[in-house]
Amino acid sequence: MAKDKPRRQVSDQQGAEISEAQIAVHWQEEGYYSPAKDFIAQANLTDKGVFKRFTLDKFPGYYKEFAALLDWYKKWDKILDTGKPPFWRWFVGGRINASYNCVDRHLARHKNKTAIHFVPEPENEAIQHLTYQELFVRVNELAALLREFCGLKSGDRVTLHMPMVAELPITMLACARLGVIHSQVFSGFSGKACADRITDSESRVLITMDGYYRAGKLLDHKEKADIAVAEAAKDGFKLDKVLVWQRRPGRSSSPTPMVEGRDFVVNDVLVKYRGKRVEPVQMPAEAPLFLMYTSGTTGKPKGCQHSIGGYLAYVTWTSKMIQDIHPEDVYWCMADIGWITGHSYIVYGPLALAASSVVYEGVPNYPDAGRPWRIAEELGVNIFHTSPTAIRALRKDGPDEPAKYHYHFKHMTTVGEPIEPAVWKWYHKMVGKGEAVIVDTWWQTENGGFLCSTVPAIHKMKPGSAGPGIPGIHPVIYDDEGKELPAGSGKAGNICIRNPWPGGFQTIWKDPDRFVKQYYARYCRNPKSKDWRDWPYMAGDGAVQAKDGYYRILGRIDDVINVAGHRLGTKEIESAALICPEVVEAAVVPVADPIKGKVPDLYVSLKPGLKASEEIEKKISASVVSEIGAIARPRHVIIVPDMPKTRSGKIMRRVLAAISNRQDPGDVSTLANPEVVDKIKALSR
Ligand code: WTA
Repeated sequence: MAKDKPRRQVSDQQGAEISEAQIAVHWQEEGYYSPAKDFIAQANLTDKGVFKRFTLDKFPGYYKEFAALLDWYKKWDKILDTGKPPFWRWFVGGRINASYNCVDRHLARHKNKTAIHFVPEPENEAIQHLTYQELFVRVNELAALLREFCGLKSGDRVTLHMPMVAELPITMLACARLGVIHSQVFSGFSGKACADRITDSESRVLITMDGYYRAGKLLDHKEKADIAVAEAAKDGFKLDKVLVWQRRPGRSSSPTPMVEGRDFVVNDVLVKYRGKRVEPVQMPAEAPLFLMYTSGTTGKPKGCQHSIGGYLAYVTWTSKMIQDIHPEDVYWCMADIGWITGHSYIVYGPLALAASSVVYEGVPNYPDAGRPWRIAEELGVNIFHTSPTAIRALRKDGPDEPAKYHYHFKHMTTVGEPIEPAVWKWYHKMVGKGEAVIVDTWWQTENGGFLCSTVPAIHKMKPGSAGPGIPGIHPVIYDDEGKELPAGSGKAGNICIRNPWPGGFQTIWKDPDRFVKQYYARYCRNPKSKDWRDWPYMAGDGAVQAKDGYYRILGRIDDVINVAGHRLGTKEIESAALICPEVVEAAVVPVADPIKGKVPDLYVSLKPGLKASEEIEKKISASVVSEIGAIARPRHVIIVPDMPKTRSGKIMRRVLAAISNRQDPGDVSTLANPEVVDKIKALSR
């Protein structure tokens, strides 16, 4: 991570003054929808007895059912070790390999079955169908290269900055084969953001791709690798090698030149490893499988460390029971593998179950809003998984498009943000053709897999509500004093989970104190206790629980903005603005948006004497994009004469958020400078 440069203060506040949960819309209670009979008849989980087997008095024994879905070299001695709370250790003593479980073990029965359908964005480029046998060959060859050419061994970290191509799961599984910890950075993130993650994880190798297609353009991606290496060097961190996959093997897709002795074209080097086989390394179950960086309450993104055994068991069970994946299914999750959803529910879960998983390179509505439905028709996709933002965009651009295509979904998922009942109903009626069951799955990067969702063949669906805890997960809502808010209280509070679960992250990479502080300190009953019951997990989301036990998630209660299902730290955005020498103060607030859920508005004040101009606004916006990436681009940069402040000098984000959301800022008479409020109102667009 970049060392703290001498930057100006972002703000002195602790915790969010205005949270997403506070600006949440209040939807009315909706009626229930039942799963179709045909769906129930074929579903993996129809036994209601699961809830009796998975009660807290039987914890943690019930998680054996999860681990039983995997092949182990050596069985665990202990399901759960709670010796050092809240650093839970799952399946202790067990030995396992994730690559073996996602590839090798399927060869006997499924070697000629498609593991990955790679769909390029350009429609005239052929879809690639990679069988399990081909996946096996390619993972082995790359693992040989990583071991022999790069000298990588178990426990080493490697940063991946790859787009949505088949080579990405191949690279992840090659790392997993060696016990190498991969850290995939979302390809839309900037070179600088990639550098921060390289230095924090101390990755000696960066694996990238020269270019990729997005919204009709072939983007130069190699350029970002050069920026990443240079930025890491500024922080005193030097990489050994940059491995560059070619989007079009045999020719370069990037005008950025290769650096002699540092950059290597993967396909050129792979020639030496043709036909090589690498025995999967028999890893301890609690060894880390990967890091996934995400935004939290302070400026730096944190590396969530996920285990091999616990994580894989969790995503495999939830893929089978909540996603209802069978080996014969064609499953398409339209998320990006650069996020946790893609790790768990494009790569590890579906492949552990020998399903065919679709990897689509581009944007959903390119070249038009019929694209996803054409892909579904062509590949026979029967399970579909996406975010409310994508659903809203597809609905806006082509509300009647799905009806034009002959695909059939038995099951659909929504994840990442609250979904409005009206949008849910369009998804159900038009995309699901009134037949598909829908699961609204609530969880986070930290959690590895789903926490709340209906079980698709057992529960009725209710638009706008995620549902109860999934089997084995026991949520609770606490108010600020730590009192439980019962179902049907009508009150919102902080949603927590009473029990540990195998998919939960093990720690924050190199920052165990923050792990304890951020997720456990607030509701821990006794910091000395070794009893897991004293350590509820705090998710950082506001929620309400209806009488029927279903949870409705309202949004973040901390300094995180969920933009189109992507988590961004307000402090990260503010720091990026403050890099511009013109800016003296910056404050970011979440604004409700009809497509993206929430978007950031960035308020700034300038050095005395400087005049507001469009040029400065653009410069500030560009700084946010180069520090973080285009997804963090503010909706508006609003240059204000002064920030609304308390008498002690704190910026009142609540007032700014109210103005941006066209709400009443309430009583502002106690501010040090109440007169500024009307001036800011006049500026806001
Ligand atoms: C939000 C994504 C409402 C929530 C898997 C959470 C949701 C954050 C839902 C995690 C949902 C996720 N309904 N809100 N079904 N799913 N969220 O880490 O605020 O990228 O804390 O993980 O997204 O985002 P993350």
